[in-house]
Amino acid sequence: MRDVSKHFGDFLAVDQLSMTVRRGEIVALLGRTGAGKSTVMSLSMGTIAPDQGTVQVGGVDPSREFDALRGKMAVAFQTDRLLPWRTAVENAELGLLILNRSKAEAREAALHWLARVKLEGAEHKYVHELSGGMRQRVSLARALAVDPELIFLDEVFSQLDHVTSQVLRRDFSRIVREVGKTCVFVTHRIEDALDIADRIYVLDAPARVCLALSVSEQTRRDPRALADLHDQIAQAIGGDTESADHDPNYSENQDLS
Ligand SMILES: Nc1ncnc2c1ncn2[C@@H]1O[C@H](COP(=O)(O)OP(=O)(O)OP(=O)(O)O)[C@@H](O)[C@H]1O
Ligand SMILES: [Mg+2]
Repeated sequence: MRDVSKHFGDFLAVDQLSMTVRRGEIVALLGRTGAGKSTVMSLSMGTIAPDQGTVQVGGVDPSREFDALRGKMAVAFQTDRLLPWRTAVENAELGLLILNRSKAEAREAALHWLARVKLEGAEHKYVHELSGGMRQRVSLARALAVDPELIFLDEVFSQLDHVTSQVLRRDFSRIVREVGKTCVFVTHRIEDALDIADRIYVLDAPARVCLALSVSEQTRRDPRALADLHDQIAQAIGGDTESADHDPNYSENQDLS
């Protein structure tokens, strides 16, 4: 994105935002509620167009050339957006059926990805029979099943309790790295970002980058360096954040070793 601005009526939601995501990276967009994270994601997916500036995904303007990116991008949302009258596997195969793949191919891919996100045995359960964490796993399987190059996640981890969230995001990041996908994920929790992102963009409102940083694997293993990054980010976001406030495990982890 280069110098992207977006208004909703008179309201400025995105203010000359520039950011880059490289192939194979996991990038976190972090910011307070209302910072414009979801709007930036919608701009990246081309579901809305910028007023000014340019958005390019693989050299293509996603809002103008939606078809060129068909099947190359997938998304999972804050709420799981599963269809309650379909089972886990029927939800997971939905993206492929929309892309006109055969039923057999869709079913095979859906079962494969449900197993990869550790939902073996739950394939034929209906949505109401699944826990919140399991539902998010189904929506991740649905996103992965279309074999996209680029995956967008909007607050997929941050609505879950901290332990469930950590297990899910680590499972997910392992898969993403193994199969070499690119992932942009939105979160308001610093912990989510520090745990799996290669790079983090902190946004303030109206959406613009107020801090950009990288997280190396070495940093991830160094509690002191992580605590430093956490402080920098918390300061950029302004004030205490949920993870600093309410997650005792997080600060305990920082103190360990
Ligand atoms: N379609 C729209 N029409 C009008 N205003 C909008 C629209 N979409 C978003 N906004 C406004 O733009 C701002 C950014 O919204 P956005 O949903 O991108 O924030 P966010 O960072 O994703 O917040 P959250 O963490 O709560 O999900 C908000 O003030 C919101 O009210
Ligand atoms: Mg949002």
